[in-house]
Amino acid sequence: MTRIAVIPGDGIGIEVTTEAVKVIHAISEVSGKQIDAVEFDYGAERYLKEGISLPDDALPRFRSEFDAILLGALGDPRIPDMKHAADILFGIRFGLDLYANIRPVKLLDRRLTPLKGATESDIDFTVFRENTEDLYVGIGGVFKKNTADEIAIQESIATRKGVERILEAAFAHAQGHGLKRVTMSDKSNALRFSGDLWQRVFAEVSRRYPQIEAEHMYIDALAMMIVKEPSRFDVIVTSNMFGDIITDLGAQLQGGLGMAASGNINPKSVCMFEPVHGSAPKFAGKNIANPLAAILSVQMMLGHLGFNPEAALIETSIRECITDDECTPDLGGKLGTREAGDAVCRRLRTSSR
Ligand code: NAD
Ligand code: IPM
Ligand code: MN
Repeated sequence: MTRIAVIPGDGIGIEVTTEAVKVIHAISEVSGKQIDAVEFDYGAERYLKEGISLPDDALPRFRSEFDAILLGALGDPRIPDMKHAADILFGIRFGLDLYANIRPVKLLDRRLTPLKGATESDIDFTVFRENTEDLYVGIGGVFKKNTADEIAIQESIATRKGVERILEAAFAHAQGHGLKRVTMSDKSNALRFSGDLWQRVFAEVSRRYPQIEAEHMYIDALAMMIVKEPSRFDVIVTSNMFGDIITDLGAQLQGGLGMAASGNINPKSVCMFEPVHGSAPKFAGKNIANPLAAILSVQMMLGHLGFNPEAALIETSIRECITDDECTPDLGGKLGTREAGDAVCRRLRTSSR
């Protein structure tokens, strides 16, 4: 039996996760494999009521009782400092040491991309975003707050271990998937110390993979090149903050944030899967959010768990739905969130017969 811990979270996270869980149930039914989804109410509501964001027993339970975690999204305008979201999201990413944030940028239907003339084969690469270091570690502080002399310090860290393991993951992925190029992106022309570490470790790791082309591009040039010539990229590997930014750019090339999935991976841990998008408060409760990013995150999760035919079935079903315009308005369809989720489940059931 496979057990999935499900954290719907806030805003549209709750709505898209409902659809993703429907898909898990449909897959379980058509494959005959028992996959259980157990819900956890971590998010803004509970935090506002009880002051609890990520309970103390959360990580031990995930580690010992579950095969994977599925997250919707976190973020609520009533909690402007994002305290609960940081506790939960970073609590899990850092607490389980999920160092590789793997974000595929894959165009499923050429009608969805804003890039003129681009086809499905042009937009198909994977971003390896370092997920445990950089500006995200929360080291810093403020001095003389609310005075004219106020100082805010937000430190960025890069460790040899952290840089090496994400580079190694990127190269291993390229090798395992028969891909020819890994593009490492940094800002070593300005960030001298961490940039130098990335550069040296990149040279080292790339030597272990002589058959893979090791390319370097500064992050500003990379942002330009992703739009100009996306087809040149197979695997992109970069730091936490740069990876965050360029994966929203990548998301738009695939049809928007409603189409972008991700996995937070450490091969030695229980891993977490989530759409790249957030809780989109202005869409919340309106049944208009696209559930496909969450459903594609289920696909990634099943692939990670070794359920490859089931993962492939989800992708086929999603492609068919898009082709037939059975999708939400962001993709040009007329369906609501629930109806788009139902459409995927219907396809799953019919194509598996
Ligand atoms: P967002 O991703 O929530 O939304 C940005 C815009 O993208 C939306 O206004 C909408 O136009 C579009 N969009 C996003 N998801 C969509 C979907 N499923 N279907 C259709 N359109 C979609 O980003 P934001 O507005 O910057 O952030 C809102 C909140 O979410 C903030 O609190 C932010 O911190 C949080 N956030 C959380 C996560 C996470 O939990 N992993 C990720 C990103 C942002
Ligand atoms: C993401 C999000 C988060 C991040 C936010 C909500 C802290 O933007 O998962 O891409 O920056 O990692
Ligand atoms: Mn982001």
